[in-house]
Amino acid sequence: MSDLSLITPVQKKEDIALDLTLRPRLFGEYIGQKNAKENLEIIISAAKQREEPLEHMLFYGPAGLGKTTLAHVVTNELESNIKVTSGPALERAGDLASLLTNLEDGDVLFIDEIHRLNRAVEEALYPAMEDFRLDIVIGKGPSAQVLQINLPRFTLIGATTRIGLLTNPLRSRFGGLFRLNLYSEDEIEQILFRSSKILNIPLKEEGAKKIAKCSRRNPRIANRLLKRVRDFAQVKGNGIINDKISKTALSMLEIDDLGLERVDRELLRIIIEKFNGGPVGVQTLSASLGEEADTLVDVYEPYLMELGFIARTPRGRVATAMAYRHLGINHNEPLF
Ligand SMILES: Nc1ncnc2c1ncn2[C@@H]1O[C@H](COP(=O)(O)OP(=O)(O)O)[C@@H](O)[C@H]1O
Ligand SMILES: [Mg+2]
Repeated sequence: MSDLSLITPVQKKEDIALDLTLRPRLFGEYIGQKNAKENLEIIISAAKQREEPLEHMLFYGPAGLGKTTLAHVVTNELESNIKVTSGPALERAGDLASLLTNLEDGDVLFIDEIHRLNRAVEEALYPAMEDFRLDIVIGKGPSAQVLQINLPRFTLIGATTRIGLLTNPLRSRFGGLFRLNLYSEDEIEQILFRSSKILNIPLKEEGAKKIAKCSRRNPRIANRLLKRVRDFAQVKGNGIINDKISKTALSMLEIDDLGLERVDRELLRIIIEKFNGGPVGVQTLSASLGEEADTLVDVYEPYLMELGFIARTPRGRVATAMAYRHLGINHNEPLF
């Protein structure tokens, strides 16, 4: 994916420091996601009252919506400690074993991108989740022996953008599954105001509204845009983010009212102009656009579908009448 892409919800290098400074620490600061928050608050209080470890939890939903943040918030609310790893980082069952044996009772183990665990690691995880036990096979063939190691009573928190890729046995071992949803524009505004306070950025109501509108209802993108608009306000204005500064900055970044970037519009234009509105297969489309098919599916498409600009059909993607309208292209016979 091009490095210039501002609206990709995937964490980029420049986001790491920003994510850390802006990450809410407790439920009180975690905006929106009412359903997940309320349920988790109850589960956490109950577990604390019983002095038991929290059940294993799975957070799923698109990148940038607050899964990692929520795992940290849960840990803080439990007043416990978190160890962080990810599916691809755990190459062997031994990697998992050394992490698990170093935990303490009540600790949280956070596995990001948990859909990318390999089979051996995933299978080692089953008894660990279920019985706080690791089964280690020593030797090979008929003389092999299984050594059982008892583990501390930990809580596993998994995060994934692709719940559909999780195997059933893994998914069923979580006590709670929480889907994170796109935020409302109102909630994004609250997030922007919170961030502007932390970063000491003078942000006006109208300025926040403009940025929120372009944020794809995604906190990570909203914060990233805030930072860019701040730079613009500093250089081209008096540092204050108002209506006019946001508007000019966003149009300079080639982000339109709906938060679409140049590449999104290019994608729609390709379907419309090169393929006559579609249907066109993902592979063909990704070749025309010069982006990987995965990027197309994970990064660009979800929001375009959410807007109703692209529809999926068995024969490929089609651009809807709304997409034509947004690009100002005539569409005499709307098919959808
Ligand atoms: N509910 C929220 N309230 C306030 N800020 C949030 C919230 N969710 C996410 N953020 C902000 O968005 C950034 C990205 O969130 P993150 O948890 O890293 O997303 P994910 O792990 O789902 O990709 C965080 O640094 C945080 O500043
Ligand atoms: Mg994350």
